[in-house]
Amino acid sequence: MYLDRDDELILAGEFGETRQRLMELLVGLGTVYGAERLIPIASAQISGASYKTIGDWGLQWLSSLDARAVVPAVLNPVGMDLERWQEMGISAEFARKQEDVVRVYRRLGIRLECTCTPYYLALTNYGDHLAWSESSAVCYANSVIGARTNREGGPSALAAALVGRTPYYGLHLVRNRRPNVAVRVEDAPEAPGDGWFGALGVLVGREVGAKIPFFSGIRPTRDNLKSLGAAMAATGAVALFHVDRITPETRVFPFETGDLETITVTAAEVEAVWSDLPVEAVALGCPHCSGEELARIAFLLDGRRTTKPLYVFAARRVIQEHADVVAAIERSGARVFADTCMVVSPALERYGAIMTNSGKGFAYLPGMCGAEARLAPVEDCIAEATS
Ligand code: F3S
Repeated sequence: MYLDRDDELILAGEFGETRQRLMELLVGLGTVYGAERLIPIASAQISGASYKTIGDWGLQWLSSLDARAVVPAVLNPVGMDLERWQEMGISAEFARKQEDVVRVYRRLGIRLECTCTPYYLALTNYGDHLAWSESSAVCYANSVIGARTNREGGPSALAAALVGRTPYYGLHLVRNRRPNVAVRVEDAPEAPGDGWFGALGVLVGREVGAKIPFFSGIRPTRDNLKSLGAAMAATGAVALFHVDRITPETRVFPFETGDLETITVTAAEVEAVWSDLPVEAVALGCPHCSGEELARIAFLLDGRRTTKPLYVFAARRVIQEHADVVAAIERSGARVFADTCMVVSPALERYGAIMTNSGKGFAYLPGMCGAEARLAPVEDCIAEATS
């Protein structure tokens, strides 16, 4: 792999031992994947932030690093709302460990936005090279924005943040961004919501694995695309998808899909993913809610009181920018938490069954929280939480 003079100096230890170690990691990764060189990145997004997922070993490894990010770098959700963790029922012991993790990331110069939707906070442009690691954020950046990132692991995204570069392979190369499976959706409803797209993503992710699907027969909004990508990234390993005449690269590149393997999914198959499992709590905001999604939740609550715990998750800045809407949601008894989520926080482990409108939440809640999961449209989630 070609290394320029700066790369060589970092590798020789001229910019400190941490950057030397992390450069070794990036060069090793690039060598394995056949990268011809390293390229500069516009930003990094770093997973491996919740103490629940990284534990003491992760904290120890992070604590051994001594350098600061040289590009804008945002942290993924951590295990608790950093201000309201007591309200979430988080133990003081967990909170202390989580605060240690956050302190280390702050020292490394990582912005503590603690969100999987960094695209709501900072401008990320078409064609930008990124090193993002949370799988739904990766899928959104590649597919909806047309930026270019591989599905990084937490350590390689952090290495890229501290060095400012990433190996040039995989989805950074235009030739690797072509679709390789066609998905034809039949009888899609006129304006299906996020729960519908989450269920579609659950099905398609299972079918296509790590392929690049090209969808036809749907007209999703940006929030629908977010739900669809997150679910496919969870049940499969999709890092990029295209939707005919909707996502940006379908308008830039003349994709020919005639010869591709084709999967057909009907609306009836999508809706069969929904169930009527009895639940103890309802959780929304996986990925973190946009301002529009918060407004929709407030509208659906319509002044009613919750009868079951209703958790909503969003980035702190999105919550602050929509304070009136958040206040309306919380007047119902629901709680809107920042910095964390239904999967990476231990808070939801106390429930045996949880309802969500998120295909990704539906896929991960059983393994990560030990809860049975029920997937449904947001309207049904609100009805369940207030019935
Ligand atoms: Fe985000 Fe947590 Fe879901 S990181 S995509 S809200 S599992």
